[in-house]
Amino acid sequence: MRQWRWLSMRCAVLLSICLSVSGVSAADLPYGKLLHDTECLTCHKETHYTRQQRLVHSLPELRKRVAYCRDDVGAEWDAAETEEVVQYLNTGYYRF
Ligand code: HEC
Repeated sequence: MRQWRWLSMRCAVLLSICLSVSGVSAADLPYGKLLHDTECLTCHKETHYTRQQRLVHSLPELRKRVAYCRDDVGAEWDAAETEEVVQYLNTGYYRF
């Protein structure tokens, strides 16, 4: 099961690379968003990041939380991929 998820994520990533190489706007599909949307929308939606009583109040806290949820869901992201997601969430929602 985990292998399939891993494989489908890799396929999605490959697809986005192909799309960006072929000139379809890569800006619409940032890598961090792709990783996030593949793994992170089963328990909470994006509204979780903008709710009033949110848990995260700084960039280090955001890094910690992303790593925590990543391990919880079993996403096999390396440090660079994890940072892409942190940047995606920070740019799109938290803005520290
Ligand atoms: C297994 C369920 C689950 C999955 C999947 C999950 N999360 Fe979470 N996440 C939680 C829970 C539970 C909280 C804390 C909610 C609370 O205490 O109100 C949370 C909170 C967060 C927060 C803090 C929100 C705030 O209040 O500021 C961030 C950021 C976050 N998750 C990122 C991620 C990312 C990135 C992923 C994908 C790797 C992910 N989550 C996947 C369960 C999950």
